[in-house]
Amino acid sequence: MDNFEFYNPTKIVFGKGVENQVGAETAKYAKKVLIHFGGGSAIKSGLLDRVRASLKSAGVEFVELGGVQPNPRVTLVREGIELCRKENISFILAVGGGSVIDSAKAIGFGVPVSHDVWDFYEYTKTPEKMLDIGVVLTIPAAGSESSPSSVVSNEEKQLKRGLTNEIMRPRFAFMNPELTFTLPAYQTACGAADIMAHIMERYFTNTKNVEFTDRLCESGLKTIINNVPHVLENPDDYNSRAEIMWTGCVAHNDLFNTGREGDWGSHSIEHEISAIYDVAHGAGLAVVFPAWMKQVYKHDVARFAQFAERVWGLEMDHFNPERTALAGIHRLEAFFSSIGLPVRLSEMEVPADRIPEMAKKCTGSGTTGNFVKLDTAAVTEILNRAK
Ligand code: NZQ
Ligand code: ZN
Repeated sequence: MDNFEFYNPTKIVFGKGVENQVGAETAKYAKKVLIHFGGGSAIKSGLLDRVRASLKSAGVEFVELGGVQPNPRVTLVREGIELCRKENISFILAVGGGSVIDSAKAIGFGVPVSHDVWDFYEYTKTPEKMLDIGVVLTIPAAGSESSPSSVVSNEEKQLKRGLTNEIMRPRFAFMNPELTFTLPAYQTACGAADIMAHIMERYFTNTKNVEFTDRLCESGLKTIINNVPHVLENPDDYNSRAEIMWTGCVAHNDLFNTGREGDWGSHSIEHEISAIYDVAHGAGLAVVFPAWMKQVYKHDVARFAQFAERVWGLEMDHFNPERTALAGIHRLEAFFSSIGLPVRLSEMEVPADRIPEMAKKCTGSGTTGNFVKLDTAAVTEILNRAK
C-alpha cells in the first residue's frame, strides 16, 4: 500500500426531503448566492421552487443562472463569472448533476482572477482560491458533489478538459434519492456506467497489497450491478435509488483510491469522444471501458480474473485464468448492454473517421493511463476495438 493523505471536507446531508434544509446550511456561508442549474428538469420537478423557498426562509438572497448543458460549456461559465462579479456573489449553489456542479466550480475559481478561466483547463495557470460551492444533487453519476474535479468543454476548440485541485471540493452536498425518480432510464444507466468506471479506474492498479480498497471497490461495483435493474424496472424504488446515490458519491470522493494509484486512461479517451460528439459521458465510458480492458488485460491476468470472480461471481479457472479474465470483461459488456447502453461507437453514431485525431489529442506527445501507459498507437487500437 502507498502512503496517502485523505481529507474529504464535504458535508453530506442525505435522505428524504433534505433539500428543504439547504437554505439554513447556505446561510452559514453567505447572505447572497448564485443558484446555478441545468436545462429544465429542476424547474419541471418543482425542486428549484423548493430551493428558492428554503433560501428565502433562511434570509438568503439569490440570483439565478440556468441553462447548463451536459458536457458544460466554457461560454456559460464566462457568463457566470461576469454575473457573480456584477452581483458581488461569494457562494454558488449548484442544483443538478455533474455538469451543473462542474460549471459552478469553474465559475468559482474564474471569479477571483483576471485571466480567462480556460487557462486553468489548459494547465497554464493553477487556481489558488475560489468561491465556496454547495450542491443539491439530482443525478448520481459524476461524483462531482464531493470530488476535487471539474470537467468543462470548450466548444470552439472541441476540447473537453478535467481539472483537479483540492480547493474545489464543495462545502456541502444535499442528496435526496427521491429527486432521482424523474431520471430517464438512459440517464440512470449512463450514471451507473460512470460510477462503475470511477471504481474500475481505481481497481485496475499496479499497487500491491491493497486488499481493503480492492474489497471496497468490489462491493461498490456489486451494489450498482444489483440495484440498477431494480430502478430501471421501478423508477420510484427509494431504497435502490439510495444505494446508487450513496455509492456514486463515495465512488469518486477518493476513499476507494487511498493507498493506491488509479488508471484514468479510459476517462481521458472518453473525454475526447464527448468533446467532439457531445455524447453522454457514461455512454462513452460503456463503449471505451470494455475495449480498454480487452487491450490491457494481459498486463495482469490475475487482477482481471479476480474482478471476474469477485464482482461477477464467475468460477475461477485455475488452469486457465485468462479464460476467467475474459469472461469477466464480457460480463461487464453484457451488463452495459442489458441496461440500455451502447457498447460500440457505431451504436452512438460516432463515426470512425476521427479516431486518429481523438487518439492524438488524448495522448499529446506522451501517454495516458497508469495501469498500462498508452501511447497514441495504443489509444488508436482501443478506439478501433470500440468501433
Ligand atoms: O439539464 P437538465 O434539464 O437538468 O437535465 C439533465 C441532463 O440532461 C438530466 N437530469 C439531471 N438530473 C435529473 C435529470 N433529468 C430528470 N430528473 C433529474 N433528477 O440528466 C442529464 C445529464 O446531466 P449531467 O449533469 O450532464 O450528468 P452527469 O452528472 O452524468 O454529469 C456529466 C458531466 O460530469 C463530468 C462528465 O465529463 C460530464 O461532463 N464528470 C465530472 C467529474 C467530476 N467533476 O469529478 C468526474 C466524471 O468522471 C465526469 O467526467
Ligand atoms: Zn466519469
